[in-house]
Parts: sequence; structure tokens; C-alpha cells
Amino acid sequence: MKDNSTGKRKNEKLWGGRFADSSSPITEEISASIQFDSRMYRQDIKGSIAHAEMLNKMGILNDEELKKIVNGLDEIREEIEKGKFLFSRSLEDIHMNIESRLTEKIGETGKKLHTARSRNDQVALDMRLYLRDEISLIKELLKSLIVLLVKLAEKNIDAVMPGYTHLQVAQPVRFSHHMLAYAWKFIRDMKRLDHAAEACSLLPLGAGALAGVNYPADREFVKKRLDFREINLNSMDAVSDRDFILDFLYFASVLGMHLSRFCEEIVLWSSAEFGFISLAHNVTTGSSIMPQKRNPDIAELVRGKTGRLYGNLFSLLTVMKGLPMTYNRDLQEDKEPLFDSIDTVILSLEGMNEMLKGMKINKDRMKKAIYRNFSTATDIADYLAQKGVPFRDSHEIVGSIVRYCEEENVDFFNLKTETLKSFSLFFDNDIEDIIDPARSTERKISQGSTSTDSIKDQIFLIKSRLQI
Ligand code: ARG
Repeated sequence: MKDNSTGKRKNEKLWGGRFADSSSPITEEISASIQFDSRMYRQDIKGSIAHAEMLNKMGILNDEELKKIVNGLDEIREEIEKGKFLFSRSLEDIHMNIESRLTEKIGETGKKLHTARSRNDQVALDMRLYLRDEISLIKELLKSLIVLLVKLAEKNIDAVMPGYTHLQVAQPVRFSHHMLAYAWKFIRDMKRLDHAAEACSLLPLGAGALAGVNYPADREFVKKRLDFREINLNSMDAVSDRDFILDFLYFASVLGMHLSRFCEEIVLWSSAEFGFISLAHNVTTGSSIMPQKRNPDIAELVRGKTGRLYGNLFSLLTVMKGLPMTYNRDLQEDKEPLFDSIDTVILSLEGMNEMLKGMKINKDRMKKAIYRNFSTATDIADYLAQKGVPFRDSHEIVGSIVRYCEEENVDFFNLKTETLKSFSLFFDNDIEDIIDPARSTERKISQGSTSTDSIKDQIFLIKSRLQI
């Protein structure tokens, strides 16, 4: 959209009546939000049309006037979309820019639109409508990410890799289980997103400036017309509430934290040392000095962007803190954090989706990593325990085998049964089955474990839950 925010249209301020002097330049500069709130123009127009229809129903606007207003607003939408609208900074925000243009276009009738309405309930409405629209888009992107994870899990169900605690090899897990661990986190994020959407669907319009309006505004009509679930029944709460934005910013922060953990692993796994995955060329970048480099920049940037998502949440929490009832101009500071978090979430999800689409899994490298690092030591301890050795003792025995391997620089998987027997007489030839990492995953028979069956159950559950 063309930004003409410093351009001036010949106008008087819509609130100019009681002022002897015009605003000083700094007052205009500090008051203006048009440079960032112009993006809500569609929602502002939609809300105004619903409001005008309600005024018509109440007999405040006749049919002719309503028609003029609706046509005028439709034309303004077009002007904005074609880049022909001249935004004026002295008109402060999107609400007054549109209203002033309407009057310029259709004359006196335009001035009736603001009957039974204040910018305080208007902006509270627009923000909800705007966020609601963006939430639908974000939900689709989040869903695509989960679908990609499920596909990766289905396709690579045979891949076994080291599972880590403390970033030290712990036990073998299936790569699919690892992917689904993230899928479940993102499913919870989706719930948080739904919660934010729900918070958006409480209608503030009709609250007026703070106390209600001197007209029997048909709020039920506006609620239905704009597809809200409920009416906010306290006008003071309606104009002072920004919880719905905080809910979204919290969702965005937690999502950012999850994405950043995932990205951290992508960065690690794509390194030469791990080599568990390779990223496609079109999602990596080169170095200006080191010709050999191929860097996982998307993963790093998504990880880095989490900082601004947290920042935006804290920024608005701090703006809100200590604000007396009801509307205070501080509330205008709700927009940039929200818009930035929306943009950041969309960009990050698009980046993640693109990166995962072309990601290759190097099963051999994963396998080597499990064979190198005693990943089935716990299985061996359980093996002895099942033969009657108390678990604490079997833990001790296996620990000393590991120490022996390290000291003698021998591979655990190549130890002869005879050598093992010198640690415990309970060792037998069936130990081969126990130390096999893939079979180790299958012995995890508890619900929610890393076995193939459990993974298949999870995939089924996620698919039915998301209807994919
Ligand atoms: N641009 C303003 C905002 O974002 C609109 C509401 C202005 N209300 C007022 N009483 N000055 O908050």
C-alpha cells in the first residue's frame, strides 16, 4: 500500500471544535498512528458498514443515507487498494482518515456515521476484527507445519537415532518420535491460538467512549452482522480491554520458543559433526569469504526472531500495567507489538514449512551415532534386572562395562559374550538382541513411547484430531 502518511489533505481535525490553536508538529507526530494502523482499513470499513446498517435500523440514517455511506466506504476501500488514497498524518489514524474522506466524498451524510460511536469502541472493534482475520491465516500455516511433521514421521519410521538428555546420548529413539514430539507442542500452540481467537469474539462496539451511548444501539444486530460470539456487557471493560492481544502475544511467544528449540536442533543436525539431516540448497545461504559454507540461516533467524516475540509480549504487558480505567492514549501502543508479532509468526512459519519440505534425513549418520555412544546401556541394565539382578546392581555392572570400553578403547557392540560374562554371569548370547538400538525402541511398550506401534497410534490420533 502506498504510504502517503506525511501528505496533507485540506482538512480540519475532526475534533477541532474546542481548540483555539492548531496542533504543534510534535503533537501531530507523536499522536499519529496512521503509518502503522492503515493496515486495518478493511476491518475499519467493515465495522463502519455494520454500524451504519445498525443506525439505519434505528432510524438514525434513512435508506438513502445508508446507501451513500456504504457506497462511499466501498469506494474508499478501492482507493486504498489501488494506492490512490492520500493518507494524512494530521488525521492521526485510520479511523479519522477514512471518516474524513467519506465526508469529503459524500458530504454532510458522512458526518452522521459516527453517531452512537466513539473511536474508543471503534478501535477496540477493528483490532479484534483484524486479529481474527490474521489468526485464520496463522492457523492454516501452523496446520501445514504439523502436517509436514506427520509426513516426515510416516516416511522415516524406520530411522533410529540417539535420543538425548543434557545433550548427551541417552537412549535410542525413532526419528519419527522426535518429530511428533514437536507436532504435539504445535498442537498445544494451536489450542492457545484458538483461545486468542475466542477472546477476539467479544463485541466492544456500542460501548461508546466508556459509558455507553445515548441511543438504544442494537448491539445484537451488530454482533450477528460481524459474526461475534458475545457482546461485552460492560462498556468500561469493552474500551479498556486488550486481553485478546495479550493472549495472542503469549501464543506467539510460546510458539516462538518451540520453533526456536526445533531450529536449534536443525542447526546442530545439519552441522558436519552431526550430519543427521541435510537442508536443501534453496533454503541455505553462503558465506562471502568461505567458499565451502552452506549455512542454515532460516533456522537461525527463526530461532533469533523469538526474541522479538517475547519483547512484544512484554512491551504490551508493560503498557497495560497501571493504566487507570478506561481508555488511555497509551493503548495506541498496542498496535506495533501486535503487528510485528503477526508478521514475525507468519514469516517464521512460512520459513519453517519451506525448510522442512526439502529436508533430507541421513539415516546412516543417525545409526552411527547410536552405535558409538552406549545408547542401549539402560536396556542392558534392564536385561540383567529381568534375570534377577537388583536394578541398582545391574546399573553398577553396566557402568563398569562402559568404563572398561572407554579405557580399553573397544566398541561396546563388539564385546564378546565371554568378556561380558566376566562382569556378570547372567550375560548370555541373547544379549545381542538387547543391544540392538532398533529393537531397543520396540521394547518400549509403555503408552506414548518411541516404539513403532506407539508412533503409529500418535500419527492416527494427530490426523484425526486435525482432520488431515
Ligand atoms: N488511534 C487511536 C488508538 O489506536 C484510536 C482511539 C483514539 N481515541 C482517543 N480517545 N483519542 O488507540
